[in-house]
Amino acid sequence: MIRILIALLLLANAADALAQGDPRAQRGRTFAQANCARCHAIGPVGESPLAIAPPFRTLHQRYPVESLAEALAEGIVTGHPSMPEFRLDAAQINDLIAYLVTLEGRGRAP
Ligand code: HEC
Repeated sequence: MIRILIALLLLANAADALAQGDPRAQRGRTFAQANCARCHAIGPVGESPLAIAPPFRTLHQRYPVESLAEALAEGIVTGHPSMPEFRLDAAQINDLIAYLVTLEGRGRAP
């Protein structure tokens, strides 16, 4: 009985941490929602509105998302004309990458 209670308490704690989330990841998600979501699926499920734009949750299968920092700072040029060139500042990049990490299950969900 005590064990079950402890397990329930631990679960409630974990849910709490998830609900509070990581403020960087939260800002990253807001940024992605505003700037990327009209083409990319930015959440844990769903298809991209623009079929050829990779869902953000699949990016880490191509490369470590941290390696995107440089590309984001210099402006991503994917060679596809429908992908606008973005230049993000360092804080925006940190936020966005913190968010991408949560999609892999490595970080705390926003
Ligand atoms: C107007 C549509 C559009 C918007 C808005 C958009 N993208 Fe894309 N993005 C694309 C398309 C299309 C591709 C696939 C390009 C290709 O495969 O040649 C892509 C590819 C990518 C890739 C993969 C690049 C690679 O070489 O693997 C990343 C990372 C990416 N986008 C990040 C972003 C981020 C971050 C934002 C928001 C700041 C964003 N995109 C906004 C259309 C868009």
